[in-house]
Amino acid sequence: MSSAHSSAGLDPAAARDLLDSARQARQHAYAPYSRFSVGAALLAADGRIFTGCNVENASYGLTNCAERVAIGKAVSEGAREFVAIAVTGPEDAVAAAPCGACRQVLSEFGPDLPVIMPSEAETGYVVETIGGLLPGAFGPARLAESQKARGV
Ligand code: THU
Repeated sequence: MSSAHSSAGLDPAAARDLLDSARQARQHAYAPYSRFSVGAALLAADGRIFTGCNVENASYGLTNCAERVAIGKAVSEGAREFVAIAVTGPEDAVAAAPCGACRQVLSEFGPDLPVIMPSEAETGYVVETIGGLLPGAFGPARLAESQKARGV
């Protein structure tokens, strides 16, 4: 597995495999209100893949996005270091970039995380880092600096 990793994330075959895992997870999406099924697959540094799908609710605002389901599963199973996340909306060749809330939650675990999204490009996907998708993010370092400065 480690041969498939690089500082830029994954090699193309591994990126496409992760996107396929996201498409499989999408099959479980519970999206009766939006009918916009989303799947996510988060590859941890130890090689485990944590998947997620969106889980909607009749009280719409309680909907959980696929990415946050995946990260909740990962952290609750002891994974905190990640190599990449693949995210797909309903269409197999159209990018569905993570929403703002999911960008913030993913950014907690590192701004360099590559986000793999489907594309009509020849490779079948595009990649952007969380830091690129959420520049100037509020993060743990800001809290730590402030607490240090104020001695709390
Ligand atoms: N959704 C996600 O699962 N992830 C995102 O990043 C964007 C939006 C879901 C939430 C809702 O169930 C549906 O897509 C339409 O907003």
